[in-house]
Amino acid sequence: MSDVYQAIANSPVGSKIFSSLNLPIPVILERHSPGQASFISGDVIVGAAPGGKAITSVLATLKTAPQAKLHTLAGLPAEADVQKAGGTAGVNVGNYTASKEDKQKFKGLIFDATGIKNTAELRALYDFFHPLTRKLEKCGRIVVIGRIPENCPLEQRIAQRGLEGLIKSLGKEIKKASVANLIYVDEGAESQLASSLQFFLSPKAAYVSGQLVRVAAADFNSDGFDWNKPLTGKTVLVTGAARGIGAAIAEVIARDGAKVIVLDIPPMADDLKQVASRIGGVALEADITAADAPALISAAAKEHGGLDVIIHNAGVTRDKTMAGMPDKFWDMVIDINIGSEERINAQLLKDGTLNDGGRIVCVSSISGIAGNMGQTNYATSKAAVIGMVQGMAPELQAKNITINAVAPGFIETQMTAAIPFAIREAGRRMNSMSQGGQPVDVAETISYFASPASQGVTGNIVRVCGQSLIGA
Ligand SMILES: NC(=O)c1ccc[n+]([C@@H]2O[C@H](COP(=O)([O-])OP(=O)(O)OC[C@H]3O[C@@H](n4cnc5c(N)ncnc54)[C@H](O)[C@@H]3O)[C@@H](O)[C@H]2O)c1
Repeated sequence: MSDVYQAIANSPVGSKIFSSLNLPIPVILERHSPGQASFISGDVIVGAAPGGKAITSVLATLKTAPQAKLHTLAGLPAEADVQKAGGTAGVNVGNYTASKEDKQKFKGLIFDATGIKNTAELRALYDFFHPLTRKLEKCGRIVVIGRIPENCPLEQRIAQRGLEGLIKSLGKEIKKASVANLIYVDEGAESQLASSLQFFLSPKAAYVSGQLVRVAAADFNSDGFDWNKPLTGKTVLVTGAARGIGAAIAEVIARDGAKVIVLDIPPMADDLKQVASRIGGVALEADITAADAPALISAAAKEHGGLDVIIHNAGVTRDKTMAGMPDKFWDMVIDINIGSEERINAQLLKDGTLNDGGRIVCVSSISGIAGNMGQTNYATSKAAVIGMVQGMAPELQAKNITINAVAPGFIETQMTAAIPFAIREAGRRMNSMSQGGQPVDVAETISYFASPASQGVTGNIVRVCGQSLIGA
């Protein structure tokens, strides 16, 4: 659905009127375009707290962005460490001295905070970000890398937990459609940072802000890995793929090299076939709540050599307040949005249909985080999805399988087009981007989770919500 407000606000006449009335002008987000040579382009500045252990991996990842020009901030205590890490990674890092007057702008600000051991050392964040935040370009990127708090000694745990507050506040301050995100990396897992760093620094994270992921040690080795086609040779099944977010997921996953099986209910067969033929995929008609659906999906997947990734996207709303809700609304929403996913996962694992190094990616919702008036059934189901991700992650990690979820906010689809106008406008504007997201924004985040390079990324919930105020 088109956002008329955004279109008018960005027109030559509209932008003048909106500015004079002090109305928000939602920036047109920069999104990924095929053939883009570099996940980030332009000037990028990196810094570190003394003792930072991620900086060499950060610079090694940036080396694979040929259109990025790297700098570090002169005068920081760890300036020499950053230069040394640049030497180890084989990249040129220029020295930048900030002044209020200079017109220098940066596309990315990256800070390695892994060296921060107590709250006094949090000052390193101020020293880096204070002179630089006003120098962030439109659609800029901030990434901070810290240590997983729960795995740190007490003083460090307290300080590292503080990074979440920093990132969420920066996300709200930086405006102009820039995003700020946090990567917590376990000690010894620094070599696994590349997929998360590339994602958060790229236009693929256009509508993802104020989020954090945890990266654990894993055995992914990027030698010879094709970052432009990360899913080459993989077979992926997407449920609810006939339209909306599911169709966008299928397209992005196919773009990234996978063979895609798209599934939807029989009444959606025509739309489903169109999606399948657009992406050279396979259509599978099934109702995921049917008693025989798990076995049918497992058998169909086996015909294609098993699944590398399953994406549980199919979902419905049947909104009513608890007092006014018929029981069939409750049962239907719980069964489609969570019950069927549990049964399908169990069958795929029992049959060994999910290949070694497999991925389960689920679609939750910010309703499942914040709750929502009239959505007790939906919010329960989507919070349960989070429970499934967090509950299954440790057990699956032992089998080399990851499980993560996206939690979309307001995304422009037929589902949200059906919301009454006033509530729809509120949903669209109440976030740091002052606009709704596109299905492709959810799809890009899912493809990041699905990538073989994200082997160390499991048990995470990433909101794709433009940093919605709902449930923030
Ligand atoms: N649109 C948003 O703003 C938003 C926000 C948060 C979460 N989500 C979630 O994203 C997912 C996709 O949402 P959407 O907006 O694209 O919705 P949509 O209604 O456009 O698409 C959902 C698809 O799922 C299919 N489906 C429904 N029941 C099924 C069943 N029993 N078996 C197989 N397929 C079934 C539908 O036929 C449809 O094609 C859902 O899980 C939804 O809850 C959407």
